[in-house]
Amino acid sequence: MKPVKVGLLGLGTVGGGTLNVLVRNAAEIARRAGRDIVVAQAAAREFNAEGLDGIDSLDVSDDAFSVVDNPEIDIVVELIGGYSPARELVLKAIENGKHVVTANKALIALHGNEIFEAAQAKGVTVAFEAAVAGGIPIIKALREGLAANHIEWIAGIINGTGNFILTEMKDKGRDFADVLAEAQALGYAEADPTFDVEGIDAAHKLTILASLAFGIPLQFDRCYTEGISRIEPQDVEYAEQFGYRIKHLGVTRRVANGVELRVHPTLIPERRLIANVDGVMNAVLVKGDAVGPTLYYGAGAGSLPTASAVVADIIDVARTLTIDPENRVPHLAFQPGELADLPVLPMEDVETAYYLRMTATDKPGVVAAVAGILGDAGISIEAMSQKEPAPGETEVPLVMLTHRVSERQMNAAIGKIEALDSVAGTVTRIRVEHLG
Ligand code: HSE
Repeated sequence: MKPVKVGLLGLGTVGGGTLNVLVRNAAEIARRAGRDIVVAQAAAREFNAEGLDGIDSLDVSDDAFSVVDNPEIDIVVELIGGYSPARELVLKAIENGKHVVTANKALIALHGNEIFEAAQAKGVTVAFEAAVAGGIPIIKALREGLAANHIEWIAGIINGTGNFILTEMKDKGRDFADVLAEAQALGYAEADPTFDVEGIDAAHKLTILASLAFGIPLQFDRCYTEGISRIEPQDVEYAEQFGYRIKHLGVTRRVANGVELRVHPTLIPERRLIANVDGVMNAVLVKGDAVGPTLYYGAGAGSLPTASAVVADIIDVARTLTIDPENRVPHLAFQPGELADLPVLPMEDVETAYYLRMTATDKPGVVAAVAGILGDAGISIEAMSQKEPAPGETEVPLVMLTHRVSERQMNAAIGKIEALDSVAGTVTRIRVEHLG
């Protein structure tokens, strides 16, 4: 059978890894795909040829559109990242009748609805396994392996850089900026690292997971997003004293009146497997009604792990080249005409338990005043701890865990607590998920 010809856009961390895996494992890949898969052309503005297998014999230009317009190319692999020109390149590739493989979570989360509609109309596939959790085959698991299930919720550590930072803070007390610089040097961090630490990258990925799980259109703009930059070492320590770990979690859950879609730091009981996922590793916990909870773990970033997912997609596309487009696995797991219009709930309607930390004057009646506000709001306290004042200090940290309550009720209670004369500054709130 004729070889499948791949056009590679980007020869950076993921593009380079993809070239290397395709060249290194060519014989085995051909045995799996049923035909040879060759990189026929690549485009990159700048790249380091050192360590790139087969680069000397590869036609590399700096014009990505020349790859997309090359009639010889069957599959365009977009590994440039970012919104533009990635969107234009992918849409042009589709218009030219080419299949597309991409690792671009930002592109899929923001422009996926438009891209899948165009691909559907043209009868081509856009595959995006590498867009979520790097090398973990979570898209495949949700779309195919769990297809029998009514998915109830997903909770994931889906940003390796953020998890690396939290882990180093917990284990080594390292400085935030120092750990971030290391993640950048290792090629884990986004071009704009605020995407990692402020949760935008995780929100891109969670948006995609929610669509696959619940059969809803991609709605990145509805995702509540809160980063890890305000987590203090004392919160990590207090959480541990209560038996919890702080993780930056993406949570999406089907509830009676819609879907929750939220990324924020979260206390998780330390006995949960996912609470022990450290460093740059990712993990996604999926609860299906038939299968129960399933956990997917692996490298969420990096050259070869991400290339593993990209190449798996290329093989998948190569295998389906001769299949009637109507009978391919649908892009968003559900048939295009079957997407539901379940609303994504505003954060105020979401219900979770909470960790609260405040600085209170060390005098009688303060704890009673705080507990009274929570009690009046119908918020039940699960655990409370008042720390010793430092020598000469008159203020003490007051830390508590609450039972589940709506964000709206908690916002109102926090407003009243912050208005107390005996409470200084703002109340730190971190949501708690038991993931039972
Ligand atoms: N910046 C991302 C991360 C890369 O740290 O997880 C993989 O998407």
